[in-house]
Amino acid sequence: MHELYTSLAEYYDAIYRRRAERIGEEIDFVEEVFREDAELEVRRVLDLACGTGIPTLELARRGYEVTGLDLHEEMLSVAREKARNEGLNIKFLQGDALEISFEEEFDAVTMFFSSIMYFDDSAIQGLFNSVKRALKPGGVFIADFPCWFYGEGDGPIVWDERKDHEKLIITDWREVGSAFQKLHFKRLIQIIKPDGSVRAFMVDDELNIYTPREMRLLAERHFRKVRIYGNLRRELRPDDRRYWLVAIR
Ligand SMILES: C[S@@+](CC[C@H](N)C(=O)[O-])C[C@H]1O[C@@H](n2cnc3c(N)ncnc32)[C@H](O)[C@@H]1O
Repeated sequence: MHELYTSLAEYYDAIYRRRAERIGEEIDFVEEVFREDAELEVRRVLDLACGTGIPTLELARRGYEVTGLDLHEEMLSVAREKARNEGLNIKFLQGDALEISFEEEFDAVTMFFSSIMYFDDSAIQGLFNSVKRALKPGGVFIADFPCWFYGEGDGPIVWDERKDHEKLIITDWREVGSAFQKLHFKRLIQIIKPDGSVRAFMVDDELNIYTPREMRLLAERHFRKVRIYGNLRRELRPDDRRYWLVAIR
């Protein structure tokens, strides 16, 4: 089910190389939200579902005191090694975001790159509860998720990347179960070794689709102030393709 985060964890940064190269722009926006929306000075950040730490490390580079938590040890071991190589002091914890038991310890909680789509209608309520408890009053929760019908009906997307001496060919497509708002995200990853031999992996993930309005209505049950922004601006425009939930405890 989660091959991308287990057997393929060491390839995650290569697969998402282009996004990783732009992480500075994402974190510029997140810092603007910290300054303008949080009602306290943000210093301590909990990055939930931190994966290989692409955003986690960037936050630490900018001087935040960061804790990263992820379900998969394989992702965390990549993140730990990268942090060690850069001499960054980040606490990485293995665990389920639904089972965290922090009490008013963080100024901000983040959940990047559509990770919030792993939580269905009932789980997301538990997630909001745990995040709210982990935040200090006035602290901010930030999570991004995509516009699900953008690209709907388009054929598979194919691209290639490199990792050391291996070539990766990645083929993505998706199927939408409209009635239950489930997105079946499918991916074929072919890893070609220098001797020409090929290993292939199929990823088949079920994600939960949320519209910006649904996300706002759900979050409003738990947080004092909720805003939805689009792309990397503190406003929402009709053609935005990625949304940012910003919720204040
Ligand atoms: C798309 S990746 C995003 C990783 C990282 N946030 C980033 O921006 O690159 C989704 C991550 O969510 C993690 N994940 C999924 N369900 C989780 C849960 N219940 N608790 C903690 N992490 C979870 C996966 O292990 C994976 O690392």
